[in-house]
Amino acid sequence: MRVLITGSGSQLTDPLTHALGPRGHAVEALPHASLDICDLEAGRAAVDGFDAVVNLAAANSVDGCESDPVLAYNGNCLGPMQLARASRDAGAAFVHFSTDFVHGGLDDPPDYFSEDTPAAPVNVYGHSKLLGEAAVAAVGGRHYVLRTSWVIGERFLGYVRDSIGQGKLQIPPVGHASPAIAQDLVAVVVRLLEDNAEPGLYNAANPPATDRPALLRAIVQELGGDPDIVVLGEDTRPAARPAHSALGVPRLASVGIEMPPWQESLRRFVAGEPSLLL
Ligand SMILES: NC(=O)c1ccc[n+]([C@@H]2O[C@H](COP(=O)([O-])OP(=O)(O)OC[C@H]3O[C@@H](n4cnc5c(N)ncnc54)[C@H](OP(=O)(O)O)[C@@H]3O)[C@@H](O)[C@H]2O)c1
Repeated sequence: MRVLITGSGSQLTDPLTHALGPRGHAVEALPHASLDICDLEAGRAAVDGFDAVVNLAAANSVDGCESDPVLAYNGNCLGPMQLARASRDAGAAFVHFSTDFVHGGLDDPPDYFSEDTPAAPVNVYGHSKLLGEAAVAAVGGRHYVLRTSWVIGERFLGYVRDSIGQGKLQIPPVGHASPAIAQDLVAVVVRLLEDNAEPGLYNAANPPATDRPALLRAIVQELGGDPDIVVLGEDTRPAARPAHSALGVPRLASVGIEMPPWQESLRRFVAGEPSLLL
């Protein structure tokens, strides 16, 4: 396959490129400066000749989206819709990422949110991503929307390593969710594309769900630090966050993709071992 990655400043670009290359796929990656996904004509020119487009571009600052809804809805809804249209018209598969932040507002939430659980975002970011999902689905074509959460890639590990060096990692106490180890997440993309899986919406994260402090302590420990450096601080962030947004992944299992437990995948990632999914 010839694969185009858009929004290539994402921490998922390197793992995706490393997963695709050795399997014989050709990859081109475009940063924001080279392609604004809101620009339909530029998108049409960019996707020409590709078999698949993986969109990593997003307005991803949750608090930034709250204060600048135009940026949020452009980056997370209009842009994905334009790129999905360009991809559909070029006959390319379109892969897009969404978020567990489409959840959080239900009065009586389930333990795990499935793809069919009604969404109830609690902030502008979540709402803009939810509309982006709908826009991509409405465009049609061969599209995959992956709802993911707490992406653990090299950038995040670097932040934790820096905190270990400083002897303190202060985090807000909010959050019960499902982490997604980057190399498993990109492996899901590769599998869906290579297997020509049924298009649509898929939750994509590693079970089981966990609390943010427990996850951070596990990562610090995996990196050789003292888990006691993780301390809880006051949550002063302007935008509301979901208290609980754990993603169940039965739909991936139904197409033969069994997400490994995050503890094992984290260990493999830190040790430089490949994803169990490829
Ligand atoms: N990180 C997480 O924990 C997490 C959790 C759930 C879901 N997700 C989803 O996973 C995907 C990847 O996330 P990430 O954290 O790897 O993203 P990221 O690091 O924030 O990277 C997103 C990239 O998109 C670019 N971008 C923004 N607007 C654009 C536009 N209009 N046209 C082209 N490029 C644009 C940004 O460039 P500039 O910085 O130059 O604007 C940035 O390089 C996103 O869809 C995100 O919503 C992530």
